[in-house]
Amino acid sequence: MLELRNITYSYNRREALKEINIKIEEGERVVILGGNGCGKTTLLKLMDGLIFPDDGEYFWNEQEVKENSFKQRDFSREFRRKIVMLFQDVEVMLFNPTVWDEIAFGPRQLEIENIETRVENWGERLGISHLFKRHPGELSIGEKKRVALASILILEPQVILLDEPLSNLDPRTTGELIDLLLELGATIISSTQNLSLAPELGQRAVLISENHRKVYDGSFDELFEDEKLLLEANLLHIHKHRHEEKVHRHFHPHDWKYTKIP
Ligand SMILES: Nc1ncnc2c1ncn2[C@@H]1O[C@H](COP(=O)(O)OP(=O)(O)O)[C@@H](O)[C@H]1O
Ligand SMILES: [Mg+2]
Repeated sequence: MLELRNITYSYNRREALKEINIKIEEGERVVILGGNGCGKTTLLKLMDGLIFPDDGEYFWNEQEVKENSFKQRDFSREFRRKIVMLFQDVEVMLFNPTVWDEIAFGPRQLEIENIETRVENWGERLGISHLFKRHPGELSIGEKKRVALASILILEPQVILLDEPLSNLDPRTTGELIDLLLELGATIISSTQNLSLAPELGQRAVLISENHRKVYDGSFDELFEDEKLLLEANLLHIHKHRHEEKVHRHFHPHDWKYTKIP
């Protein structure tokens, strides 16, 4: 359904993605992994049609997605309704005076019917109905994330792009968000640098290296076996620990669950 063919992208002359090939089928849940600055956000923005490749092609349902494609109103409406993105910094997504207006904004723009019922449904599903009259700017980060998510899920998209969706969330909100994502039937492409939560976001791991190339595409089990690759991609680090009198060298992810020690 989505296909990136040999995509290269640079910001002025700074490379962000290099010769990336990815094919994603409907209903897949793909997790883009990689260290800071490897190109995860850039990749998601390309898939969301916010930026366009310098080289290579991007296809959605066999149609090429180019800057010009968005000049066709039908294509643009269809694409913007079917493919949505949750930004890592959700604040950039919130600009309406109330939570209600925020969630209703997309459906109003796209002239979707039954807006009231939809807003009520999604408000309830995300546990934010009690916030409808509040100003989005004054909410907690977890509440903001739920509002931003409601504002895109209300479009009933085919593809949901999530940029580091679990960052800055407390454990309960993280769990609730993961459960909600599991209930949705959509294709979900998320990015993360959190190795222990990554398998909760999908079955297929795509690893981007520090030199902006795809270096792995497959199951998590196989990826977790390859410590060299994880180290190179900056997802694990080694540092020294002092246990009683002995100094050990351990592999460490940036969290606690991944405990395999060489
Ligand atoms: N707006 C921008 N202008 C210039 N360089 C950018 C911009 N956004 C990202 N970059 C650069 O592109 C590379 C990839 O960035 P990004 O996609 O944000 O990585 P990630 O999301 O994996 O941390 C980095 O080297 C980053 O500095
Ligand atoms: Mg990023």
